[in-house]
Amino acid sequence: MKRLEGVSIALGVGGGIAAYKAVELLRRLVDEGAHVTPVLTKNALNFVGLTTFRALGSSEPVVSLFEDSSPIPHTKLGQGVDLVVVAPATADILSKFATGACDDALSTILVSTDAKVVLAAAMHKEMWSHPAVMENIETIRRRGFTVVDPEHGRLAGGDVGFGRLAATEVILDAVVGQMATRDLAGYHVVVTVGGTREAIDPVRYIGNRSSGRQGLAIVSELLDRGAHVTAISTIDPALSSSYLEVVRVESAIEMESATRSACKDANALIMCAAVADYRVESPLVNKFKRGSGNLPEIKLVENPDILANVVADSKMYSQNFITIGFAAETENVEANGRAKIVKKGCDILVVNDVSREETRFGSADNEVIILSADGSLKYIPLAPKREVAAGVVDALVERLLSIEFEQ
Ligand code: CTP
Repeated sequence: MKRLEGVSIALGVGGGIAAYKAVELLRRLVDEGAHVTPVLTKNALNFVGLTTFRALGSSEPVVSLFEDSSPIPHTKLGQGVDLVVVAPATADILSKFATGACDDALSTILVSTDAKVVLAAAMHKEMWSHPAVMENIETIRRRGFTVVDPEHGRLAGGDVGFGRLAATEVILDAVVGQMATRDLAGYHVVVTVGGTREAIDPVRYIGNRSSGRQGLAIVSELLDRGAHVTAISTIDPALSSSYLEVVRVESAIEMESATRSACKDANALIMCAAVADYRVESPLVNKFKRGSGNLPEIKLVENPDILANVVADSKMYSQNFITIGFAAETENVEANGRAKIVKKGCDILVVNDVSREETRFGSADNEVIILSADGSLKYIPLAPKREVAAGVVDALVERLLSIEFEQ
């Protein structure tokens, strides 16, 4: 699936050492289906050549305002694109955009467009921490534009610090995120992520093979589609958004309490976590030492079924609350899935076969059957977890819309 099919983008390139990375971004944007017009500043040409951009771009690169035969080329390009992404956005470009200054093609297009704007900042570490640059970024963000922060790493001249252009993938995700349908704006969704850990003693636990990748993909998809997300997670999601609240948990008991309380003011729960069915009845307070006599006996007791409990709660507080469960199966996948959706009482169950090499825990891809309580079924063939996440979120949106329609 191409994520930017039919999207028209102006790719601004500023005059910084990271300008060469814009070539890779250009190629990735085009691969994703976008029509890309490169717009380079004169300073960018000190670092990269026009020929490369001419070869890889979808339209002739723009450098000057005055080489087009049209009398108003800057507004023409600005009006025609869906998004302007600038990488690298130097301190100078950020300053011009913050103050509305226009003295070349890129700065003029930025001020004359009403398209989405994504600026991937890159500069030397001293410049990045300068109060003038920080204030410009604050101004830009306050106006609703996206600034992708630079990363820590090696900079020009051998220095190390914050200022290196973010990875191409991060900038690409920011662009895709801006263009995604925001069909969940105004909705609050709780997602559980990762696998629970049940303590044996302070250093040992009973765990499972869940990597949390599918859950994180769902969190990213929900954020891109405008939802407010609470992630109840056993791992650090390494995602930041003002629409994301992360509650870190370890055990099933902690996950249950955080999930039930977050669901009180939510529209949906996506129970993606692999929850241990059993926990150690009495975890040891101190580490069990080797050779300390008899081998310890671990007595297990059953954990609460979080999903079933939230389904029961939701019947009490809202008819419209949607519950989505996941089922990890190793045999009779569809039949077991159908039995499980009835047993759990959830609206949707995403069933996957974890016995297969390509879809076992921790893999990059997944293949699932999305079952609905009404018996309908949707099959998502082997695809990256982010695409599977999009299918799960589509099913959620369909269910939300059908409930709203019924009312
Ligand atoms: N789940 C839960 N609480 C548990 C166990 C599971 O909320 N104590 C949720 C999972 O997050 C998942 C769904 O229930 O969304 C199904 O999990 P799964 O492990 O497939 O099923 P179990 O209920 O554990 O049944 P079984 O192990 O017998 O297959």
